[in-house]
Amino acid sequence: MSDTASGPGWGECVTTEVKDGIAWITLNRPDKRNAINPGIVREMTAVLNAMEGDPDAEVLVITGAGDSFSAGQDLKEYFRETETWPPHERERLFADNAAWQWRRLMHYRKPTIAMVNGWCFGGAFQVLVGCDLAIAAEDATFGLSEINWGIIPAGIVTKSVSMVIPQRDAMYYIMTGETFTGIQAAEMRLVNKAVPQEQLRAEVTKLAETLKKKNPHVLRAAKSAYHHVRQMGWEQSLEYLMAKADSTTFRDRDRGAEKGMSQFIDEKKYKPGLGAYDRDA
Ligand code: ACO
Repeated sequence: MSDTASGPGWGECVTTEVKDGIAWITLNRPDKRNAINPGIVREMTAVLNAMEGDPDAEVLVITGAGDSFSAGQDLKEYFRETETWPPHERERLFADNAAWQWRRLMHYRKPTIAMVNGWCFGGAFQVLVGCDLAIAAEDATFGLSEINWGIIPAGIVTKSVSMVIPQRDAMYYIMTGETFTGIQAAEMRLVNKAVPQEQLRAEVTKLAETLKKKNPHVLRAAKSAYHHVRQMGWEQSLEYLMAKADSTTFRDRDRGAEKGMSQFIDEKKYKPGLGAYDRDA
């Protein structure tokens, strides 16, 4: 798959382009500031399903069309208009939304990067934190605007925020609803880095290229282990990580650990402190 804007089940609210191993996934409702409606939920589910099995999509980048990453949940189409849906259909929509926005993304088979190009509000924080890494434009605008229209940051927004940014910042923005910039987001570690808008795509490409060189099986295990041990105590973490390390090595078709060690110790071909072993050797 390559250079395509649509695929089976997407193309209207979400477009994709797979190029040089990177899947650029764009929330595509710029007129509505990429607010997340049932269409985005449906199409993102289809995209994540398809990209999971696409060997050309090694790293996923999620971004937004126009001047927005996403203005959060679509207050009209996601909330108001679904009030009259049969309860089970509305609950299914909310469950599917939680699945693509964080549960699925967090343990996704491939590395994910949020490329925050502009407005980023409310529910969009779930996607942002659900992605493994995030790079923002310096002039992107973030906000936990829920307080401004009379709700708490629900879904899993408050939990997401509490996992990545310090308490004083989290409480400040949850309680005031004030906006902050990409530069401030980087300072409080909500994103890895903020760069000028015109360098955003190049910076994300550079990061994706770094990830592409790593063993994908081990990358997947490493990120999953990180999320699991955050919920565990020390002793449990040790037991879990030792078992996870063994199962990761056992299931690794690349025989990464073996190759990596031998390319360093025997062949003296590379320095693991400074870069990845050669997977093709
Ligand atoms: N839900 C529904 N529609 C939205 C949303 C949203 N979250 N955000 C923008 N839109 C729509 C507007 O209603 C408008 O539609 P219209 O052209 O049919 O009137 C269109 O997108 C453009 O919006 P403007 O407000 O005109 O765009 P502007 O660039 O001036 O402002 C901004 C952008 C600041 C993002 C503003 O649209 C806004 O405040 N949006 C809401 C942000 C928010 O609070 N999101 C919800 C968070 S809570 C949650 O996600 C659970």
